Amino acid sequence: MEKAPLQVIPADVVSAVDYEQRAIGHMDAAAWAYLQGGAADERTIQANLNAWATCNLQPRVLADMRGGHTRCTLFGETLAHPIILAPVASQRLFHSEGELATTLAASVMQGVAVVSTQASHRLEDIAHHNQSLGQGLLWFQLYWQGSRDATLALLKRAETADYRALVLTVDAPVSGARNREQRAGFNLPANMANLNVPPTPLPLVPEGGSVVFDSLMTVAPTWDDVAWLVKQTSLPIVLKGILHPADAIRAIDVGASGIVVSNHGGRVLDSVTATFHALPEVAKAVNGAVPVLVDGGIRRGTDIIKARALGATAVMIGRPYIHALSVAGALGVAHLIRLLREELEIAMALTGCKTLEDIQMDVLHTQLTANASST
Ligand SMILES: Cc1cc2nc3c(=O)[nH]c(=O)nc-3n(C[C@H](O)[C@H](O)[C@H](O)COP(=O)(O)O)c2cc1C
Repeated sequence: MEKAPLQVIPADVVSAVDYEQRAIGHMDAAAWAYLQGGAADERTIQANLNAWATCNLQPRVLADMRGGHTRCTLFGETLAHPIILAPVASQRLFHSEGELATTLAASVMQGVAVVSTQASHRLEDIAHHNQSLGQGLLWFQLYWQGSRDATLALLKRAETADYRALVLTVDAPVSGARNREQRAGFNLPANMANLNVPPTPLPLVPEGGSVVFDSLMTVAPTWDDVAWLVKQTSLPIVLKGILHPADAIRAIDVGASGIVVSNHGGRVLDSVTATFHALPEVAKAVNGAVPVLVDGGIRRGTDIIKARALGATAVMIGRPYIHALSVAGALGVAHLIRLLREELEIAMALTGCKTLEDIQMDVLHTQLTANASST
C-alpha cells in the first residue's frame, strides 16, 4: 500500500536523491517502473547520470561575490533561476493534484513548468488554476497530432490559454521499447488518460507490413511541418530532442526559437549519447543564435553549473520533480527547486561566478573539459 503524501518535509530530505529514495514508497510498483524506466537496457539513462557525475569542477577562491544571482532571461521573460520542469505525462499517477501541483510549485519559485500534451488535467484547467493564484509562465509541450489541422487546433488552444512558448518534442515519433515498464505490466489507468486530445487514429498496417514504417512514421512530422508550424504562431517554438549539431542548425533555419538537447531521459532510443556529451557540439553549432536547453540526468546544482559551462542557457529536470511530487505534492516540488537553486548558488560562489554569464568552460577541470568537448 502506497504512503499518502506528506504535509511537512522531513528534516532529512535535503537533496534530489532523498526524494528519489522516498518516492518508491509513495506509488505502486507499476507506476514506479513507468517513471524510473527507460528504453531497453537503460544504458542511456545511466550514461546521462554518469556523464554529469564524472566531470569535475575547478574551484576559485577569494572572489568578490556580492550582488551575485541566478537570474536568467528566456524569450523575453526573466526567471529567478535556470531550472525548468520538463514535460512529464500523466502526473496524477503520482499525486492526486498532478500538474496543478507541479505548475504551482514552478510558479511560486519564479520559474517555468512545461505542461505535457499528455497531461492528466486539461491544459486550460492547468493554466486557469495557475492564473487564479496569480502565478504565471507556463510553456506547453506539443506532440505532433498526426496532421497539420489537428496539431494547429491544439496549438491554438495553448495560445488561447496563455502558454508562453511551445515545446515541440521531435525525438519520439515511435515509442521506445520500455522493457522495465512492460515487465511490470504498466497500463495507464483509464481515468488518467490524456485529457487534452483523443489518441490519433493510426493508419492500418497492411498485411505483412511494419507498424513502424507503414503506420507510425507515416503520420510523424518532418522538417517541412516544423517550418509550417512556426508560421502559424507568434509564440516561440522550441524543438525538444535535438542531439546532432546539423539538426540544431536545421532547427534554426526553419525558424525554431530554441533547442532542447535531450534524449527524452533515455526513454525512447537506448544506447544514445549522454546529453552532457552532445551539448558542447550543439551549442557550438548554434553559436548563440537561440537559447539551448538541456535535460537528462540533472540531479544537482553542480550538474547545472556544468551544463551552463558547456553552453546551456537553462536546464530541465524530469524524474526528480515527480519524486518530490509523490512525496510531498506542490510543497515537495517547490522545496526541490529551492534545493537545486541553493546548490547552484554554492557551486557558483565557490567557482568564482557571480552570475550565470560568468560561468564559462574554465569552471570545469581542464582534463575533463577536453573529454567533454571531444565526444
Ligand atoms: C514519466 C515520464 C514521462 C514523460 N513524458 C514526456 C512527455 O509527455 N513529453 C515529453 O516531451 N517528454 C516527456 N518525458 C521526458 C522529459 O521531458 C525529460 O526529457 C526527461 O525526463 C529528462 O530526464 P530526467 O528524467 O533524467 O531529468 C517524460 C519523462 C518521464 C520520466
